[in-house]
Amino acid sequence: MPLKICFASAEVAPLAKAGGLADVSGALLKYLHADGHDVRLFMPGYAIIQREGLEIRPLDALRELSVTLGSQRYDFSVSSAQLPDSSAQVYLVECPAVFNRPSIYTADADEYRRFLVLTHAAFLSCQRMAFAPQIMHFNDWHTAAGPLLLRSPYAWDRLFQSTRSVLTVHNIGYQGIIDAAAQAEVLHGAPPSMLDAADLAAGRINLLKTGLAYTDRITTVSPTFAHELRTAEYGMGMETLLRTRRDAIVGILNGVDYDEWDPRRDRYISQHYGANQLGIKAELKHEFLQRIQLSGGARTALIGIVSRLATQKGFDLLFESLPLLLQVREFNLVVLGTGEPRYENFFSSLQRRFPARVHFERRYSDELAHWIEAASDMFLMPSRYEPCGLNQMYSLRYGTVPIVRRTGGLADSVQHFDAASGAGTGVVFNDYNAEGVSWALNTALDLYQNKAAWRRLVQNGMAQDYSWSRQVRGYVEMYQSLVES
Ligand code: ADP
Ligand code: GLC
Repeated sequence: MPLKICFASAEVAPLAKAGGLADVSGALLKYLHADGHDVRLFMPGYAIIQREGLEIRPLDALRELSVTLGSQRYDFSVSSAQLPDSSAQVYLVECPAVFNRPSIYTADADEYRRFLVLTHAAFLSCQRMAFAPQIMHFNDWHTAAGPLLLRSPYAWDRLFQSTRSVLTVHNIGYQGIIDAAAQAEVLHGAPPSMLDAADLAAGRINLLKTGLAYTDRITTVSPTFAHELRTAEYGMGMETLLRTRRDAIVGILNGVDYDEWDPRRDRYISQHYGANQLGIKAELKHEFLQRIQLSGGARTALIGIVSRLATQKGFDLLFESLPLLLQVREFNLVVLGTGEPRYENFFSSLQRRFPARVHFERRYSDELAHWIEAASDMFLMPSRYEPCGLNQMYSLRYGTVPIVRRTGGLADSVQHFDAASGAGTGVVFNDYNAEGVSWALNTALDLYQNKAAWRRLVQNGMAQDYSWSRQVRGYVEMYQSLVES
């Protein structure tokens, strides 16, 4: 049975992307749509979206809408854009007052209001289109006010009478904690008792927590993280609430859009390869080493990193271990990422110290991200926490051995290689410390010297299937069980 789904997200690839939320939102739209469901996805009409070639049309039915938050009125209209490589449409909320900024996210005082506008726009557009969604699917703190709005200010409307809400936690580290003075704007007429009293007394509102309290289903992006987020180590203060809501939580592993991430048809690399053409992968590495001007030949392992440079990603572990390893072992390192200055400075200084062996690019580049996946021998993700992680799954398909910490989605998608049995797809370490990551890097570099074992490891990874066409079934089943409940 086709479902009617309203989806709201702050990021959708390829239109506006800061991290994995974009890949997942774009892929869910594409694959749910391909599966026959009516998905109306709302995202901000950011000024930074490159609009050429997107076939954007203003929608007559969705003109001159407005929402008032506190004393401020926001006027907006909605246009539709063609999702590239799909017949699905995206609804862009055109509200220049909040989305005409130089980046997706800002540190501006009205940051929460920008996403409240998006969340209301989803409801108001459903009303205008007389679209009665069976599911309203919200994502992360940005749209986490949605479940409360559905229960109270929009509850009068029979359109939403049988609508069930889903809130997906992609990243529990960002909770949308704002000043309690914003109470009236968040509540929008809902009773103040709907907000966490202890938080209010402490002068704050936690938007993610509010959503987690009222949503019908909580999903997160891997089964392991669905357990972890109920623990003090990973719950980031949400664990008590999440323990009481344990029956509402489901973990669904993210997938990979192999139309975008497959070395047999990658749009950015100069040659294509499959599991039995690893010679071509070696040629790509050679070409790439010349481009980024690193020394070392085919037998020098190239380790890649593509990441937001945030605490979550575990790069603190490298501060001591990496300079030491670079002195005693033969390998090269290529890093693409931007973020917190301490990590940017660390990789810059590493590059200065080892100019022929370390290459760091402090920017965002899809093209370079694809090249690093294709040309590297290994891909490092030492995450402190990782709800899912996508690059380890991309790496598997590119024959680039993932070196990961056993946490969240990394634990669910990479199995430690056992040389004796020949089973396994990567190198996995347990403990979040410098010894753990050093052990993993040494293990991977040793294995790399054993040609037969390495080939087996690479091919095991390339044979894995994490496609969205499979993973999307988990969402459809979850939606259906909610609709029937
Ligand atoms: P997160 O969402 O926590 O950042 P994920 O592993 O789920 O982590 O997704 C990260 C996505 O963002 C991947 O598609 C990765 O290739 C991409 N990415 C991160 N930083 C960059 C960058 N500097 N340039 C290009 N792509 C990047
Ligand atoms: C988040 C998480 C990442 C996940 C992504 C998409 O930002 O950090 O692990 O893969 O969202 O769900």
